[in-house]
Amino acid sequence: MCGIVGYVGPRDAPPLIFEGLKRLEYRGYDSAGLAVVQPDRTIGIRREVGKLARLGERLDRAPLSGHVGIGHTRWATHGQPSERNAHPHLGPSGEIAVVHNGIIENFCALRDEMAAEGHRFASETDTEVVAHLVEGYLAAGASLETAVRQTLARVKGANAFLFLSRSQPDRIVGARLGNAGGLTVGLGEGENLIASDIPAILEHTRQMVFVENRQIVTITQEAVRIETLDGQAVPIVPYTIPWDPVAAAKEPYRHFMQKEIYEQARSITDTIRGRADFDGGRVRLESLEMTAAEAQQLAKIVIVACGTSAYAGQVGKFIIEALARVPVEVDYGSEFRYRDPLLDQQTAVLAITQSGETVDTLAAMEEGRGKGARLWSIVNVIGSQAHRIADGYIQMHAGPEIGVASTKAFTTSLVDLYLLGCYLGELRGTLPRDVLRQRIDDLAGLPDLVGRVLDHGQEYEQLAQIFYDREHFLYLGRGINYPVALEGALKLKEISYIHAEGYPAGEMKHGPIALIDEAMPVVAIVMRDHVYDKMVNQVEQVKARGGTVIALVESGNGDIAAQSDHVLAVPPAPYLLSPVVNVIPLQLLAYHLALRRGCDVDQPRNLAKSVTVE
Ligand code: AGP
Repeated sequence: MCGIVGYVGPRDAPPLIFEGLKRLEYRGYDSAGLAVVQPDRTIGIRREVGKLARLGERLDRAPLSGHVGIGHTRWATHGQPSERNAHPHLGPSGEIAVVHNGIIENFCALRDEMAAEGHRFASETDTEVVAHLVEGYLAAGASLETAVRQTLARVKGANAFLFLSRSQPDRIVGARLGNAGGLTVGLGEGENLIASDIPAILEHTRQMVFVENRQIVTITQEAVRIETLDGQAVPIVPYTIPWDPVAAAKEPYRHFMQKEIYEQARSITDTIRGRADFDGGRVRLESLEMTAAEAQQLAKIVIVACGTSAYAGQVGKFIIEALARVPVEVDYGSEFRYRDPLLDQQTAVLAITQSGETVDTLAAMEEGRGKGARLWSIVNVIGSQAHRIADGYIQMHAGPEIGVASTKAFTTSLVDLYLLGCYLGELRGTLPRDVLRQRIDDLAGLPDLVGRVLDHGQEYEQLAQIFYDREHFLYLGRGINYPVALEGALKLKEISYIHAEGYPAGEMKHGPIALIDEAMPVVAIVMRDHVYDKMVNQVEQVKARGGTVIALVESGNGDIAAQSDHVLAVPPAPYLLSPVVNVIPLQLLAYHLALRRGCDVDQPRNLAKSVTVE
C-alpha cells in the first residue's frame, strides 16, 4: 500500500510531487523519495528512510529541479525500510527511474535469472528488478512504452508502476496490473498528473481518468494516452470528482482522525441527502436500481468486506434482515473466495469498502461475478475499482477519509445499509407504507443524535488519563451492538497498540470470563433493547469478579450507572440506527487513549490506509 505521484508540465515538479506525497502518506510511511529529469538530461533522485518530513529536509538541503518527475511513499513489503530500498529505483545505467505499488510475485525467479546474466542489484526490492528489465529493452532499441509493455509481460502479481526516462524526458509511462491500488490521471491545464489516490492531485484538477487493470498510460504536458497491454487504444473518459481540496485537508484539527470523527454529523447528513424522501416516505437509490420483481426474487445477500467495513457488514445483516426480510450472510473478503461459496443469479454480493481498492474485497467481488451473482458495492471513493466493476453501487458520501483508522466511513456505511434495507423492503413488500415512513423519519433525527455525542467529545480525555497505561481491554455487546464492540476493539488496538478484544457478551460464561480482573477494563454496550436485562446481568457478573466496567448507556439510565465504574452516555436511538450513535464514544475513547500514549494516530505503525496487497 504505497503512494505514488507523477507530474509532467511547465511547473517545477519536486514541490508538487512532495505535496502530493504528503496527501498520500497515510498509504505508507516507511520511506519516501522522488526523481526528476534534470535540465542536463540526467535523472536526479532523493530518497530518505522514515517519515516524509525527512525527505522534505533533504530536498531543502539538496534541491532538485525539473518538469517531469515521479515520487513514492513506501509501506515496505520486500526489503526492510532503508534508504537503499526506498523508491524511486534507477536502472543499472541510470537511464530510467521507477516507482511501484504492489508485489511482484515472481520476483525471485526474475532476479535469479538476471543475476545469472550478470545483473547486480543495489537493493533488496522487487521493484529494482523491473528497472533492470525495462532498461534492457530500451537498450535493445524499444521506446519507453514498448519496453514497459515487454517487461510487464514477464511480471506476475498485482502492481502499479510509474517510469520516467532521461532519453524521453517529456513523458511519464504508467502501468497497472491487477488490483494493486489505483492509478488515477489528473487532466490539468497545460499539465498532467498521475497518482495512486485522488487526494494527491485534487488541488490541481478535478478531472480524473482511471487506469484499469492491464493498461498502460503515457502522459506528456499536452496529452494523455491509454492503451491495453496488447496495444488497443482505450478512450479517455474523465470523471469530475465532487470533493473539494479543502475536504482533504486536516486543519483546523490536530489529526485527520479527529477531524473525521467530528465530521460525522455532516457526512451522515450528506449520505442521507437525496436518497431519503421524507415527504414521499420512500428511499431512492439512483445508482442501484431494481424492479420489484427482481427484489422479490432475491434469495440471499452476501456481504463481503475487510476490517472495519466487515463489522459494518455485520451490523448490516441485522438491518437488512429486519427491513427487507432477505437472508444476509457476512464474510471476510480474505476468506470468501477460499470457501467455494454457494452463489447464483438470485444472490447479490455486496462489497463494503471505503477505498474501493482493498484487494481481498475486490477478489471476493470477482468470485461473485464468476458464479453469476449480482454485484453491488457500498463505496466512498468514486472511480475506484469497487465502484466501477459493480452492477450497482451506493456511495458513502463521507468525503475523503485520510486517517488510517476508519471512522466516518463506518457510520456512513451503516446509513447506506439502512437505506438499502428500506429500499428493498418497499420493493419486496415487507415494509407497509406507514412502517416505511417511520423508518425513514427515524433517519431524519440521526445527525442530531450523533452531534449530541460529539458535543461531549472532550470528556473522553479524562477517561484516557485513567486507563492509558492498561495493557488489555475487553469490549462486550449483544445483538446489533455486538459488531459495534468488535469495531470499538479494532479502533483501540490499531491506533493505541493496546490489546483489545470484542466479544459477544452472552459467550463470556463459556470461557473468557476467566480473564476478568481489575487490570483489564471492560467496555459494555448496555442499551434498553430486547437484550438489556442480559447485558445488565453481564455487568453484574464482571463486577462480581472484581472487574472494572465502562458502561455505554443511554443518557439518564441511572440503574446501570450505579453498578459501573464509569459511564459513557449516548442519546437513545432507534434500535437499527443505534450502532451509528454507539460507535462514536468508542472512536473518541480510542483516539484519546492513543493520544495519551503518544501514538501516531493518523499513521499507526505497520498499517496503511488501503490494503492493496494480499
Ligand atoms: C479500519 O480502521 C482499518 N483501517 C481497516 O480495517 C479497514 O477498514 C480495512 O482495511 C478495509 O478498508 P476498505 O473499507 O477501504 O476496504
